Amino acid sequence: MSQHFQHDVLVIGSGAAGLTLALTLPSHLRIAVLSKGDLTNGSTYWAQGGVAAVLDTDDTVESHVADTLDAGAGLCREDAVRFTVEHSREAIEWLIEQGVPFTRDDETAREDGGFEFHLTREGGHSHRRIIHAADATGAAIFNTLLAQARQRPNIELLEQRVAVDLITERKLGLPGHNCLGAYVLNRNSGEVDTYGARFTVLASGGAAKVYLYTSNPDGACGDGIAMAWRAGCRVGNLEFNQFHPTCLYHPKAKSFLITEAIRGEGGLLKLPNGERFMQRFDPRAELAPRDIVARAIDHEMKRLGVDCLYLDISHKPAEFIKSHFPTVYERCLGFGIDITKEAIPVVPAAHYTCGGVVVDQHGHTDVPGLYAIGETTFTGLHGANRMASNSLLECFVYARSAAADILQQLATSAARPTLPSWDASQVTDSDEDVIIAHNWDELRRFMWDYVGIVRTNKRLQRAQHRVRLLLDEIDEFYSNYKVSRDLIELRNLAQVAELIIRSAMQRKESRGLHYTLDYPEQLPEARDTILVPPIYGE
Ligand code: FAD
Ligand code: SIN
Repeated sequence: MSQHFQHDVLVIGSGAAGLTLALTLPSHLRIAVLSKGDLTNGSTYWAQGGVAAVLDTDDTVESHVADTLDAGAGLCREDAVRFTVEHSREAIEWLIEQGVPFTRDDETAREDGGFEFHLTREGGHSHRRIIHAADATGAAIFNTLLAQARQRPNIELLEQRVAVDLITERKLGLPGHNCLGAYVLNRNSGEVDTYGARFTVLASGGAAKVYLYTSNPDGACGDGIAMAWRAGCRVGNLEFNQFHPTCLYHPKAKSFLITEAIRGEGGLLKLPNGERFMQRFDPRAELAPRDIVARAIDHEMKRLGVDCLYLDISHKPAEFIKSHFPTVYERCLGFGIDITKEAIPVVPAAHYTCGGVVVDQHGHTDVPGLYAIGETTFTGLHGANRMASNSLLECFVYARSAAADILQQLATSAARPTLPSWDASQVTDSDEDVIIAHNWDELRRFMWDYVGIVRTNKRLQRAQHRVRLLLDEIDEFYSNYKVSRDLIELRNLAQVAELIIRSAMQRKESRGLHYTLDYPEQLPEARDTILVPPIYGE
């Protein structure tokens, strides 16, 4: 039997953004935090490098803002950048208060008034400003926030709950546009339950799983972006998919990232013959922004006809490597690669979704009562290319801002109507799950081949043709069969792929992460690509 639940705030996602919002809200509110797998399911847990923030006395807000604007290739919204950077220190102080065990700086016991934690460097940053917990920053943050959330009786942490779709007044045929909650598949019972809420928050991460090769965990399917689009929200700048330059190249190393902090601490990119090459592409060499490094690697791999290039930090003392990068060291050793003695084989892989659901500084979407925070969103911070370690920062700053806004809105939020149950009367159990698996593979492969690091009009047209066929097939499947996690994810991935392709086709220039052979130049005027959902008649 499907069930009905009512909360003050329904948070779809248990990563950095969702947990921060839940912990920032006062303890008299009834809050549900959903994860579609176990709670570690999102990207947060796997983050390595750290969180960018203005922390050192030598660093300034102006410098962090300037670096972000530069990495974003002229497309960042300066107000969003300033807002994020100006709130960076207080976000980190909040994390420290929660108990996150950031790595301390032993060498400079700071009597000089400087910062007591170690700050590393990554691509695009002109200062050391990345606070981190060795090379497992995400796990340290996640474990700390989760432990705090578990102590709060008002926060229900619900695993194996897959949000299927948002419930809005418009979808129910009621007057108004408010979001009223969500239908959620409980993977334990197999039923779709109804979650009513005064405020619903999408904190459901990115969509890098739309590509065949990705650094992301399996759940990064763009569910929040697709649900918001169907509910009537605009989406922005989805053509900017960030490819991380260095993922481990090994047949068994699914999704393993080699942190950019290795380059920040002196790691060098090399060709198979041991030659460095990045200085030919950018004066910042290994520490150029990611779009430039990923494109250079892709170029050299194609030029030489090789399957991977190499990242070498073996010239640093072994103890330094092991203490700064214990996770990468152990993981590579497990594959027979001793990074203290030899170079690491690397390839680029899809890593981060720079665009997403259009929101303002409070996380408001276009649908009243619906907020979005974290990687699901388009805030304007990242422009055409996200600077390293600005993403976790965005999660904390916007989650805290959205929580403050929800608190203000509570006083005036109206009573909600009783919601109808999910209607499963017209569907049966699927006996054709092979179709889901096949479509999933096909989608991710053509996105990799046609909508990857280097694009052309022809490749995008091919991809668009194929994704439209897939969408029709998936729609038919969705109308006839009971929902499962795989089907929900495939439906969302295909929807987001279609939006990515459409956005890429609209951009008639090369800028940041969007590089096309048909328009290799950057236009003088930088414009966002904003798509408007069909409910507005466009
Ligand atoms: P996530 O942490 O991805 O969480 C998404 C949550 O939503 C999960 O709980 C998931 O179960 C849930 N969810 C999704 N769909 C549904 C649904 N339909 N129903 C219910 N629940 C759902 N950024 C940095 O700034 N610094 C770094 O060092 C860094 N390193 C990274 C390393 C790796 C390997 C990866 C993959 C990313 C890294 N990033 C880094 C990016 C950063 O980790 C992410 O952008 C950030 O963690 C996203 O947080 P989030 O809270 O928005 O979403
Ligand atoms: C990394 O550690 O290289 C990832 C940093 C990021 O994605 O911001």
